[in-house]
Formats: sequence, C-alpha cells, structure tokens
Amino acid sequence: MPSWQKLKDVKKFEIELSSHCNARCPLCIRQVTGTDKERAGFHKGHITLEQIKKLVNQLPDPKQVVFYFGGVGGDPMMNPEVVDIFRYCVERVRGVYMDTNASLRSKDVWHELGVITKLNENSSVTFSIDGLQDTNHIYRIQTDWNKIMHNAKTYISAGGIAEWKYIIFKHNEHQINEAEKLANEMGFTRFIKEPSVRHYFDNVGELSPEPPSITKKENIRHHALRDAKKINCKVLEKNMMYITHDFKLLPCCYVHSWELVNQAESYLDNFKNNLNEVSLADVMNDNFFKDKLMNDWDDCGPTVCAVNCNQKQYWNKESKVEELQ
Ligand SMILES: C[S@@+](CC[C@H](N)C(=O)[O-])C[C@H]1O[C@@H](n2cnc3c(N)ncnc32)[C@H](O)[C@@H]1O
Ligand code: SF4
Ligand code: SF4
Repeated sequence: MPSWQKLKDVKKFEIELSSHCNARCPLCIRQVTGTDKERAGFHKGHITLEQIKKLVNQLPDPKQVVFYFGGVGGDPMMNPEVVDIFRYCVERVRGVYMDTNASLRSKDVWHELGVITKLNENSSVTFSIDGLQDTNHIYRIQTDWNKIMHNAKTYISAGGIAEWKYIIFKHNEHQINEAEKLANEMGFTRFIKEPSVRHYFDNVGELSPEPPSITKKENIRHHALRDAKKINCKVLEKNMMYITHDFKLLPCCYVHSWELVNQAESYLDNFKNNLNEVSLADVMNDNFFKDKLMNDWDDCGPTVCAVNCNQKQYWNKESKVEELQ
C-alpha cells in the first residue's frame, strides 16, 4: 500500500490566514448553507507572523515551496499582519498567492501589496469577483463594487500582479465576456472563469444561488457520494498540504470544511496536528494518514474524500474547462 507524502515532497501549502470575513457568501462554509448568517459558534482567529516564521523555518527547502493564502473560513486580507506576512514569505519561499474578495482594507495596504508583488514575480493576488456592478454582490453579500474597483486600481497601478477569478452562477453567466473585457482594460494579467459546482442539496437557504446552465446536473457534487468508486486524492497528486487559521495541519481544505460543519470531530480526535505543540515533520509522519485516512480509501471512505475526490476529480481544473465547452 502506498504511504503518505513526506515533508520534503510537499510543494504547496494552502494557508488560512484568517477565519474572519467582511463578506457573507451564502455557499461559503462559514455561513449557514444558503444564508448570510454565520454558523453558531464559528471559531474566528488569525495566523500570526510568528507562526508563519515558525512554519518557514521548519521547511527542508523553502525555495521549493509555494504558499497559497486561501482557506475555507475567511479572507486573508482580514489578517492585521497580512502585509508583513506577505513580505516575509515572498522573500523566502518559491511563490506566494492569495485569493480575496477585495472589498476591504485601505488604499495604503493595497499600494504596499502592489509594490511587494511587483518586486517578486512569483507572487500575485487573485480578486474573487463574480459578476459586474449589478451582480457581484448577489453572491458576494456585503461587498461594495466601488471599493473593490478602487482597491484593484490602486494595487495594479502600484505594479501589483492581479488575476480576476469569476465563479459562474446562473445570475452572472451572461456577463462573462463583459467582465473579461473590463479585466483586460484594467490591467489584470489573467481572467479565470469557473462554473460553481458547490450545490450540495436541492433546496437550502433562500440566498442559495442557482448553478450556471453550463454545469451538468451530474457534475454537481451532491450526487457524488453515491457514485464514488475510487478515491483520487487531490493533495497527494499535487503534493499539497493545508494549514488552518489556528495553526493546525490538515491534508486539505475539504477536510477542514468537513471539520467546520462538525462532521469530522471524532474522525480527527486522535490526530495530533497542532503546530504550536508538535513539529511539522512529526505531524506529517503521524499514523493518522496511513493507518486511518488512506486505509479508509479502500472502501471509498471517509465521506469527505468520496464527495470531493472520487473518480470524477472535481478538483481537476482541466475537467472544469471541459465543462465550459
Ligand atoms: C473560501 S474562499 C477564501 C478566500 C477569499 N475569501 C475569497 O473568497 O476569495 C476560497 C476560495 O473559494 C472560492 N469560492 C467561494 N465560493 C465558491 C463557490 N460557490 N464555488 C466555488 N468556489 C467558491 C473563492 O472564490 C476562493 O477562491
Ligand atoms: S469572501 Fe471568501 S471567505 Fe468570505 S464569505 Fe466569501 S467565500 Fe467565504
Ligand atoms: S478530501 Fe480526502 S482524498 Fe480529497 S484531497 Fe482531501 S484527503 Fe485527499
């Protein structure tokens, strides 16, 4: 039976810099599904610069490792130390990328970030903007179009490398070309379009957006569980690992989401993954990976792996592009 990846083989860490957010996207795991209400007891906090330093110092070869500031529970720009963290990391690791709704923070912060990414070609900020002035806020609830545009212009004019990521729903599918044109005019270097597939149940929450018409019903994930025949683990394929805002190591963002909706509690019970207490190398070598997680794959479990990483490989960007054709 194959074993879990070694620390020296990890090429990318997804890091949740914060679980606070200014927005209330109704299919985000921090909200009660399909609403703009935060989950009861949702834990909020930020990773600190000190913790990031501790992480970088434990990497066998930081120059081989990319950091992606994303996560499932919040927006990295909510972290009060985000600029210092970004600057510290770009100087030490191979690349630093971040996703944000961009409707927050001051002009000075965006200018500083622009200067940092200008000087480091392996770094960029992805603006999660799902529509235009009349539609972005339908999913990105509580965001302000003018503030987002202002922040993007400040960042780009300071030299920052910017990508526009557009999640396609039914309510914005008619505006893709117009948004791409605007992105080009504003100086975004890339426009990424991805159909939303995160529609787990038929009728949850009154703010749940409709999937785009290009997404085939069988590609929507709530059908995945009963279809699972085989597990294709995204993070083993891509040599990735995941770190939560409270500095715990997990295999991936899916397991973190599973934990946040309280379904993984007993599953993760004996997994000693707190990086404040255990070294990164020791967590990577924990028996949890081989004896529990990988063992369960033989029977297409646990649920989280069956839903997200079955033979359809929802995580595979190339298959998402096919869905669009
Ligand atoms: C939870 S967010 C955290 C980062 C940041 N707050 C943001 O929204 O960009 C991580 C990623 O999930 C994406 N996301 C949010 N809602 C989604 C949906 N319904 N379907 C697919 N991706 C989604 C975001 O665009 C972002 O790229
Ligand atoms: S902006 Fe990101 S973290 Fe915030 S609610 Fe939306 S998807 Fe979730
Ligand atoms: S959900 Fe399971 S199979 Fe998929 S990436 Fe995470 S650990 Fe691997």
